[in-house]
Amino acid sequence: MSVARDTQKLIQAAVEALRSGELVAFPTETVYGLGANASDPAAVRKIFDLKGRPSDHPVIVHIDDKKHLQRWAQDLPPEAQALAAAFWPGPLTLVLNRAPAVNDIITGGQDTIAIRIPSHPIARQLLTAFGGGIAAPSANRYGHVSPTRADHVREEFGKALKHVLDGGDCKIGLESTIVLCTGAAPRLLRPGSITLSQLRAIVPSVVGGVDPSAPRAPGDKPRHYSPKTPVTLVPGRRLVDVMREFTDEKEKVAVLSLRPPSTANRYMTWINAGGRHEAYARNLYAYLRTLDKVGAKVILIEEVPAGEQWEAVRDRLKRAASKDAPAEQPVVDLRDAPLTPSQELAMLHDDSASRSFAANP
Ligand code: TXA
Ligand code: MG
Repeated sequence: MSVARDTQKLIQAAVEALRSGELVAFPTETVYGLGANASDPAAVRKIFDLKGRPSDHPVIVHIDDKKHLQRWAQDLPPEAQALAAAFWPGPLTLVLNRAPAVNDIITGGQDTIAIRIPSHPIARQLLTAFGGGIAAPSANRYGHVSPTRADHVREEFGKALKHVLDGGDCKIGLESTIVLCTGAAPRLLRPGSITLSQLRAIVPSVVGGVDPSAPRAPGDKPRHYSPKTPVTLVPGRRLVDVMREFTDEKEKVAVLSLRPPSTANRYMTWINAGGRHEAYARNLYAYLRTLDKVGAKVILIEEVPAGEQWEAVRDRLKRAASKDAPAEQPVVDLRDAPLTPSQELAMLHDDSASRSFAANP
């Protein structure tokens, strides 16, 4: 049977699952989503139960076409229309005024609703075949690292989740850019691969930074996107010295760097993520998952360069390193999960292995 026909059958099964109130994980160009029929509050509640996510956190509704917008949102300002025209389908989420019929479980009881039209072909096929909105947060346990491969989703939920559509590795690897568009000047709530300059090229009035009176922004809990192993950010020039403080004491240390290691020893695991922001972002969560499994005392992450292109990466690293624990800890301890062969390869402690792993994760 052809791959296309196989995919079609899997999508049809996923659509049936959604229609009967079950959850379906699916790929998007940013990260994998944990989806439920957005018009079925009981189904959406299952997302919160499975993730262990507090019920007042709003979720993004995914649609396949702007013609479905009026079911979910109303009073779109011209700025929202312009951003939608420029970036949809794509890694942009717009927070809009909610339509009256939207259930509180989607919006966390707020007057606003987050909407996105993703560009991943499997997400689009699923949405088109389903015909409605799919509510979907990232498909990970609450507070944990977002999944960028189907295997990550299985690692998070195991048998508790029946339907996982496999669309390969996510191309972007970080969650969407979120922009609040409810009237006054649009505001960037969460940095993503679409930068503030790119937004301003379409709508010059978009503002960055946090407005304390704005609706709850994503990851308003500082500790988000976190491995279980403690994470510390270290300036590049101090990286080797800080690493040695651990390895001299015969303590295992994991390192995520922008370059290959200049030294090797048996207590360190070093991943060279390289210095290109797009590849770094694409691989970041997979690298964090890998480093979380080595049983290290700490994950040292080299600070990334200044500049707007690294903004989203910097935001996620800062949160991963935050000492403020999420309200609920993730249930799965990834340190107990078995390593895949490619991860074991990365554990080899010599320079060439970490380089080849980084080149071919
Ligand atoms: O790339 C993405 O956005 C992925 C894929 C699956 O689409 N989804 C995602 O969902 O990252 P989630 O739930 O992990 O993060 C979405 C964030 C939430 O933290 C939530 O706080 C925020 O969007 N959000 C949702 N509705 C909102 C609203 N009405 N006002 C403000 N923030 C909202
Ligand atoms: Mg998330």
